[in-house]
Formats: sequence, C-alpha cells, structure tokens
Amino acid sequence: MAEVRLEGVRKEFLSGGKKVTAVRDVDLRCRDGEIMVFLGPSGCGKTTTMRLIAGLESASAGEIHIGERRVDGLEPGKRRVALAFENYALYPPLTVKENIVFPLRASMRSPAEIESRLSEIASLLEIDQVLERKPGQLGGGQQQMVSLARCLIRDADVYLMDEPLSHLDSDQRVKVRARLRALHDRTRRTMIYVTHDQLEGLALADRIAVMNGGQVQQVDTPDGVYSRPANTFVAGFVGEPPMNFLAGRLEGDGAAPSFLSEDGSLRLPIGPAPFSGPRTILPGQPVTLGIRPEHIRLAGGQPGDALEASVEVYESLGEEGVLEVRRGRNVLTLLTKPGLSLKRGQPVEIGPDVQKIILFDPRTGERL
Ligand SMILES: Nc1ncnc2c1ncn2[C@@H]1O[C@H](COP(=O)(O)OP(=O)(O)OP(=O)(O)O)[C@@H](O)[C@H]1O
Ligand SMILES: [Mg+2]
Repeated sequence: MAEVRLEGVRKEFLSGGKKVTAVRDVDLRCRDGEIMVFLGPSGCGKTTTMRLIAGLESASAGEIHIGERRVDGLEPGKRRVALAFENYALYPPLTVKENIVFPLRASMRSPAEIESRLSEIASLLEIDQVLERKPGQLGGGQQQMVSLARCLIRDADVYLMDEPLSHLDSDQRVKVRARLRALHDRTRRTMIYVTHDQLEGLALADRIAVMNGGQVQQVDTPDGVYSRPANTFVAGFVGEPPMNFLAGRLEGDGAAPSFLSEDGSLRLPIGPAPFSGPRTILPGQPVTLGIRPEHIRLAGGQPGDALEASVEVYESLGEEGVLEVRRGRNVLTLLTKPGLSLKRGQPVEIGPDVQKIILFDPRTGERL
C-alpha cells in the first residue's frame, strides 16, 4: 500500500491541431489506505488523471509519486498499480478464471493461495458460477465483474478503477459498491475510484476530489463536500436536486444581518452560521446565497420564519415530492412529502432553515 501524490500535473492533448488541456496543474494527495473518489462532469479530466497515474499517458508537466517512488518516468508495468477500467479488455480465448489469474501467474504465489483468493473475489462479485466460461458467453455486467476481479486479485500499491460498475444495473451497482467498501475496510488498500454517479461516490469514498475543467475544485470527506462546499461549482454539483442559488446582498449589521435578493422580494435573516465560513462578510456586500432543497420546509401555516410563495411545479416522485416555488423573480426548489395536491399559482408558505444557508462570493464563486 502507498500514498499517491500529484504535484503540478498537467496534460495537454493536440486534437485536430488545437491544444486541449485535459488536466490543469493538479496537486493532489491520496492517502495511504484510503478510497479517494474522483467525481465530476463528463470531460472534466477524471480518466486522463487516472491514466497519468497508471502510466498510460505521459504528463506534459509535473510529478507523480507512489509511496516513496517517483513514477512519472516509469513504464506502466513498473508502477505497481492494478487497473479496472470501463472497457474490460478481457482475452476472448481464455476462460473467466484464466483471465482473472493471468496477472498472478508471474508472481510468486502458490497455486493454493491463488485458488483461495480467486474463490473469495469471485464470490464477492458473484461470478463464481461462470469461472469456466469464455468472456464472450457473458453479459456486459458480468464481463465488467471479471475485469474488476482481475484488478482486485492483484498485489499492487494502488488500485485504480474508472467507472468499474457502469455496465451493471442499478440494484447490482448498489450491492457491489457496498461489497467493495466492505472489502476495502478489511484490506485498507489505497484505491482511486472514478465515477460520475454522485451517490456512488458519496457511498464509497473516504474522501472525494471534485473536478471540473481539468482542475480539482475541492478534496474533502463526503460530508465536507456536501456541507462545506468550497465554491458554487461543488455546491451545485453535489446534491440532488441541486442547491438553490439566489443573487442579492447582505444588509444590516454584524449582530442581525439579513440577505436581500436582487429584486428586493426576498429577505432572509442570516444566523451566525455562515459567519463561521473562512472569510469576513461586510454589510452591503453582494453575495450569492445557497440553500439546499432539503433545507427548505413547506411550512403549512406554522408561525415563525415562514415566507409566502406560489407554486410553479410540483412533482410527486414516489418517496418524496419536488416542489418549485416562486417569490418575486426568485425560484426555489424544495423537497416535500409525496402525493400532495398542489396546483400552479397556489399560495404556499415555505420555511428555509437559515442555519443551513451558505454564502458565496458572486465574483469568484468561492464560499465566504
Ligand atoms: N487522447 C485524447 N486526445 C485529445 N483529447 C483528449 C484525449 N483524451 C481526453 N481528451 C480530452 O480531455 C478532456 C478530459 O477527458 P477525460 O476523458 O479525462 O474526461 P472524464 O472526466 O473521464 O469524462 P467522462 O466522465 O466522460 O469519462 C476532454 O475534453 C477530452 O475530450
Ligand atoms: Mg472518463
């Protein structure tokens, strides 16, 4: 096991004569024994970063270290990394079992030890019944499990997995990710795991690196990226439905500050909570207010901080309802109970949990 360290890593591609910067000066440390998840939208550089660590691409600038070794000049085979990528690259003439144990043949393992590891991993991934078959006889999901087994069975310093569950159906994904997490808790291997499925990322990760545009936006625990997002990108990307953002400014003094929306129609008292953020906020300062749909209550006539608004859209989605309301020019999404009868234009009262408000600098997007 080992930590993985990227220092100023950059990757540029030439594509049709134009320079594409896929990874921009990334500094990142994945700790020894943790699962770090790379999370971000399509094209943000997750796969390229993984391929740079694995040695399948060479960096345009920067250094990559695995444990005590600087590896960016080494062949992939010398980096002691095990890979499971989205396209499974199995050898069609070999059986499933041969495909999985193939990388172990060169190692010093005894046949008995190989058998025992194989049976453990194969039952974990539920491919123990198909070990004698050829890959061509399996569906996409099972082929992907074979590729994952081939990665997990290896002795490596770091395990790199890029969307390794993408060909499974959603029930299976949930099951396998829980087993992967349990396997990790037992073995404490250093793993880097790419997904664009945020629930999968939040469920698996010790820490998440949220990426956008080739840059790492924030590295934090799942709770950290959710509760203390570094900027509006992370705040809007993590959480479903996404966080509400309102443009406005701060009013009042430090003792009883409030937020006033740009159109003047929405005023919210702001508890002391946002002032625990990293930067000082001054009265009159323009801010972007962020509040998550799950932190706004449909008040239903309760006294207190309820605000009047009108229904725009209501969708009842089985376990919960998603309600969009309007106040002035501001539209807010909130989570409710399912099965409510709410019509467009109907007046409702909403109660934002002001303790949960997060303020951002509208110029930079950084959390205040
Ligand atoms: N071999 C290549 N040649 C040219 N451009 C490339 C190459 N590989 C990646 N890119 C570009 O680099 C950027 C990052 O791509 P990358 O595949 O790393 O993103 P990703 O985060 O893995 O996306 P996805 O979620 O879709 O897999 C994209 O703009 C992509 O088009
Ligand atoms: Mg990718």
